[in-house]
Amino acid sequence: MGMAGWHLSRNKVLFFSGALFITLAVCIHLIPYFPSMFPPVLLQQEQQQQDPTSCISLLNEVTYFPNSHGFSWNWETNSGSHDCDFQKLGRPDVSDLLNGSWVVVAGDSQARLFVVSLLDLVLGSDEMESIQDDLFKRHSDYHIVVKKIGLKLDFLWAPYATNLTDIIIGFKRNKIYPDVLVMGSGLWHMLHFTNYSDYGVSLGLLRDSLVPLLPVSPEFNAAGPDMGSDPIRALHLFWLGMPTLINRMLNTEEKRVKMTHEMSNAYDQELHKSKILRQDGGPFLLLNVAMLSNKCGVDCSLDGMHYNEAVYEASVHVMLNALLIESHQKL
Ligand SMILES: *[C@@H]1O[C@H](CO)[C@@H](O)[C@H](O)[C@H]1NC(C)=O
Ligand SMILES: *[C@@H]1O[C@H](CO)[C@@H](O)[C@H](O)[C@H]1NC(C)=O
Ligand SMILES: *[C@@H]1O[C@H](CO)[C@@H](O)[C@H](O)[C@H]1NC(C)=O
Repeated sequence: MGMAGWHLSRNKVLFFSGALFITLAVCIHLIPYFPSMFPPVLLQQEQQQQDPTSCISLLNEVTYFPNSHGFSWNWETNSGSHDCDFQKLGRPDVSDLLNGSWVVVAGDSQARLFVVSLLDLVLGSDEMESIQDDLFKRHSDYHIVVKKIGLKLDFLWAPYATNLTDIIIGFKRNKIYPDVLVMGSGLWHMLHFTNYSDYGVSLGLLRDSLVPLLPVSPEFNAAGPDMGSDPIRALHLFWLGMPTLINRMLNTEEKRVKMTHEMSNAYDQELHKSKILRQDGGPFLLLNVAMLSNKCGVDCSLDGMHYNEAVYEASVHVMLNALLIESHQKL
């Protein structure tokens, strides 16, 4: 895949406010966010009060507001999430967070739209315009290095779970792993195979391909004496879930016949049965696009499958906030 040679600084240990060590994968620089907002002592107390896993579970709960350009969004305020201090990160913060990182996003057109939203946060509008054509070449990969922040971002066209497994096998072969890996798959399988148990089998193989790579327990991340020598320990895995399908809006007869509500549910059940998600005991943290898209609703979808950019923007911010929370956990 030609990715060797890219040097990433991982597992930086920052000396924070003279008292706290923070082990950061992905060069997550918390310093720009927190000291300005809370004194360090308060930060410590807050973390003791707020169980970070509960914040993670609230991350996908957002709400949308129609506006003149389409939709804007924010986290729901009635869900206890204000204690979690979720925040939409602006360009300087994202640049800082992802500085020196290698991010790989692999999947179908949903994953491509996710990449567009992520790049939107990092690049200016002129730069975005100049890359549009390459970014939207159908069924092809896209690679970019954002030099000023040393961010390497690869979109890999991988519509099936078997393609995702091949990508993992490629990483293993080259013994080099991204800092952040976002994967998702399902729509193509539903349309072209329409066999949920086969989808489940392919997800199981994907999970199996990852298992020998993952640390036994998250605690090992912070404590292991060989910290940093095993690159996979710093790997952050996200599953980009399938969107809510709005059957009557799907743009071909074949899609309307095969991609039914029932079939969608059956695919979703297979996802959980495969135990690929963190909530089911697996490695991937779910970016719950089904929920994020459903909340935005019918008016927010273009073709019953692809949604307004607000949905992908929200999923990017869910991921970025999850990365921040994960680094808190390592305090
Ligand atoms: C990225 O990190 C490098 C080295 O740590 C630093 O020199 C540079 O200013 C950082 N850039 C941004 C945009 O944060
Ligand atoms: C993805 O997998 C399908 C089915 O196994 C295969 O036909 C296709 O060539 C693969 N695509 C890529 C990009 O590897
Ligand atoms: C669905 O997939 C399963 C598992 O791969 C396979 O055994 C079964 O024959 C498939 N069903 C159909 C109707 O193709």
